[in-house]
Amino acid sequence: MPTSPAHSSAFADGKILMGKTGDGVGTITFNNPDKRNAMSLEMWEGLGEALVALRDDQDIRVVVLTGAGGKAFVSGADISQFEQSRHNAAASEAYAQKSAAQRALLAAYPKPTIACVRGFCLGGGLQIAMYADMRFASEDSQFGIPAARLGIAYGYEGLRNLVSLVGPSQARLLLYTGMRIDAAEALRVGLIDRMMDADQLMPATLDIARTIAANAPLAVQAAKITIAEVLKDESRRDMDAIKRIGDACMDSDDFREGRRAFMEKRKPRFKGR
Ligand code: COA
Repeated sequence: MPTSPAHSSAFADGKILMGKTGDGVGTITFNNPDKRNAMSLEMWEGLGEALVALRDDQDIRVVVLTGAGGKAFVSGADISQFEQSRHNAAASEAYAQKSAAQRALLAAYPKPTIACVRGFCLGGGLQIAMYADMRFASEDSQFGIPAARLGIAYGYEGLRNLVSLVGPSQARLLLYTGMRIDAAEALRVGLIDRMMDADQLMPATLDIARTIAANAPLAVQAAKITIAEVLKDESRRDMDAIKRIGDACMDSDDFREGRRAFMEKRKPRFKGR
């Protein structure tokens, strides 16, 4: 069984790599280690293409996001593009629009996503990790949003996930100071869900991803949809969506298969319908 992703496609001139483990797990790797995987607009585009390809691949049930090079997940937006494309409010708005579709894709991704973080996870990189359903990180990883050091304002979209993960006071501490925190602190405040030895991180992440991939896809989707609705303002909550996926689950072949497999003391084989 492979322990690290095999890369099968490349986007953004190879700065975004996409792979499949062969057992239901898709991987996306930010691959510009010389710049600590800083996100250029081209990489955002490539990320979107990889996300769409894995979303539309029936064999893929879980997506793992990771960074190449061992030193960073993503060190934030590529600051070298700021002088030209993010130098004032209007340019900044246009800049944000260029990655809006990809961010929306990540925010509403229909399959479970896991950010597997090694090294620096900063600014826009942390934002990407926070869009994922879960974050696993190595002991040597570091997290922060240095926006105040650069003079950048983080908008609603950027901060909603942070506040919901760590609460308002920890969010203020991170934002007001621009400080970096280590993995132990990130675990303590709820920014990450697991902390592991660096050499165990990817194999352990893939193990969990495979466990999810082997479960009934509709049941996993029901959990994902319902938890997302719980996090929305009550006025915007779609209770019908929860009912629909609940009914789809309970009427599914997979539920029948799950019951039978249990009674027959064998592993279930789920089809996602
Ligand atoms: N944008 C553009 N280039 C970046 C970058 C970013 N966000 N982060 C790192 N790089 C580049 C550096 O400029 C450097 O390039 P060089 O080799 O041409 O000089 C290279 O990546 C390596 O970075 P370096 O600072 O030498 O490595 P390090 O391991 O000592 O530190 C960081 C890594 C990530 C802590 C540090 O580079 C950093 O603070 N980056 C900026 C992070 C940031 O502010 N992100 C938020 C942006 S909104």
